[in-house]
Amino acid sequence: MKYAVVTGASKGLGESTAKLLLQEGCHVIGVSRNMNQNLEKLAEQNSVTYQHESCDLSSPDAIEHTFTLIAERIFLSNVEVVYLVNNAGQVEPIDKAGTAEVEELSQHVNVNLLAPMATTNLFLKRAKETNVPVVITNVTSGAAERSVYGWSAYCSTKAGLNRFTETVALEQEELSSGNKIIVFNPGIMDTDMQGQIRSANEESFKDVETFRDYKQENKLRETDVVAATLVTILSSVNQIVSGKRYNVNDLLQ
Ligand SMILES: NC(=O)c1ccc[n+]([C@@H]2O[C@H](COP(=O)([O-])OP(=O)(O)OC[C@H]3O[C@@H](n4cnc5c(N)ncnc54)[C@H](OP(=O)(O)O)[C@@H]3O)[C@@H](O)[C@H]2O)c1
Repeated sequence: MKYAVVTGASKGLGESTAKLLLQEGCHVIGVSRNMNQNLEKLAEQNSVTYQHESCDLSSPDAIEHTFTLIAERIFLSNVEVVYLVNNAGQVEPIDKAGTAEVEELSQHVNVNLLAPMATTNLFLKRAKETNVPVVITNVTSGAAERSVYGWSAYCSTKAGLNRFTETVALEQEELSSGNKIIVFNPGIMDTDMQGQIRSANEESFKDVETFRDYKQENKLRETDVVAATLVTILSSVNQIVSGKRYNVNDLLQ
């Protein structure tokens, strides 16, 4: 039996990833503020379960409460592997540094960086206690590796996520724990997040026209295509290179 916990499963890449994992025969728990009823139906059709946990990942207390409960439920002796896909993310605030409220920044950092760090910690602890291996995917962005005018929060949290992942991979390797952790860069996809990016004004976000062109010129990938790449990587656990940055642009034409 395999379990997968996918954050941000209500839509976008998270929904597609949850869908494909259900079709692969994984039991899936989706964590987001909104529910996705299509995933429940799909689970039934594939004789697996889909459970939704409502959680606002900007709240450290809610993260701890929700993931402690989930971990107690899924790290069981008959479970072969637990997948954790830290996919939920937000791009806002989009504007120059010097304009954001502290509360907005705190919310952003909690969703994009604190939540993956906290869930990784909680699941690694539980994996050690139960001897059930965990495979963690942290969804990053090309913005982790280049500075984008107006995205100082997003570039920082995604860069932090990459460094966190690589550090944890180094530790797990040293400990010969059998746990693996990777970053996955999904490239540009046709999701609500891209819609928010396109609706920014040029004064706040210099590259907005380039992103409007991506949509016009059909350069945004469908999330099902991107999720299929990730699920293919996850399906061969032995071949996963812990600490690696998997980049969809290197894996797809
Ligand atoms: N789209 C792109 O072109 C692109 C490019 C590079 C990287 N990425 C990364 O890919 C991942 C998925 O992006 P996407 O484009 O699929 O985004 P999306 O369509 O905007 O979906 C974001 C998901 O995150 C969840 N989420 C956001 N804030 C949350 C909160 N406070 N608490 C709980 N869940 C929250 C949302 O669920 P609820 O609203 O239901 O809570 C939703 O399911 C993100 O990490 C993003 O940074 C995207």
